[in-house]
Order: sequence, then structure tokens, then C-alpha cells
Amino acid sequence: MAKQIGRRQVLTAGAAGVAIASLAACSNSTGASGPTEEELASSKPTGPTTKVVATAADVPVGTVFKFTDPNSGMPAYLMQPAAGTFIAYSSKCTHQGCIVEANQDASGFACACHGAKYDSVGVPDESTSKNLTATPLAKIALTVAGDQISVA
Ligand code: FES
Repeated sequence: MAKQIGRRQVLTAGAAGVAIASLAACSNSTGASGPTEEELASSKPTGPTTKVVATAADVPVGTVFKFTDPNSGMPAYLMQPAAGTFIAYSSKCTHQGCIVEANQDASGFACACHGAKYDSVGVPDESTSKNLTATPLAKIALTVAGDQISVA
């Protein structure tokens, strides 16, 4: 005569099996369970990540290259005033936040909203901006590696 197993016994046996399987999955051949704190810390990214926004070929000396700043999502301008020297500025006018346009010859920037003008290094032109409370355009930090130009 076969012994009858109750529902509670089946559930208890099933739960024990799941627990044993889970413990086996968590351990490795050395008996350790998962990565150590040191292993986790070393796998975290260190320092800021950079995002390539252009190559040197995109912005020949004396020209302007428009790109989207990955940090703000706003238009920005990259220039190469001398061979191997790259600078970038936010397009956000410091008067009231309109988007400035860059002169294609990299000689400066102009804002259509209230007439602010900035020179080639983002400083407001006193003669056109004196009644405006504009300050220099925000500079964007760049990293240059080979011909890759990145924003931190
Ligand atoms: S927002 Fe640019 S001049 Fe006013």
C-alpha cells in the first residue's frame, strides 16, 4: 500500500529544493558567494565620461562647427582659432537665454532677440551690448585625443 503524501509535505519539499538550488547558483568554485566589495568598486566607471562631438576635420582653422552639447542638449559652437587649438561655447545668450548664431568666419556671435553681439572668444561687444546685462558666453570644456574632440 502506497503512503499518501499530504499537500503540506509537497509544498515544504518544493521550497527546500528551491532554496538549495538558489544557494548553489550563488556560489562559485572557490566557495565564495559573488564578487567582493573590491571587485565591485574596481568595476565602477572612474571619472567623467567624455562624448566625442567632432573630429578635427570637421572644424578647419578659422571656421565654426555647430554641434549639440551632449550635457545640455543645446546647440554649441566649436572653433579652431589656431592649428591644434580647439574652443567651444554654448549658444545660450547670457542676456535672456536666446540662441546666438555664430559668424561663419568665426569672428563672433550675434543674438537676434535683443541685438547682443559677442567677439570671437565669447565676450560681449560693449558697443552693441552696453544696455544689455550680457556676460561672456559659457565655455565648454573639451578633451582632444588624436583627431577626436570630446565634451566631458
Ligand atoms: S537674449 Fe540675447 S540679446 Fe537678449
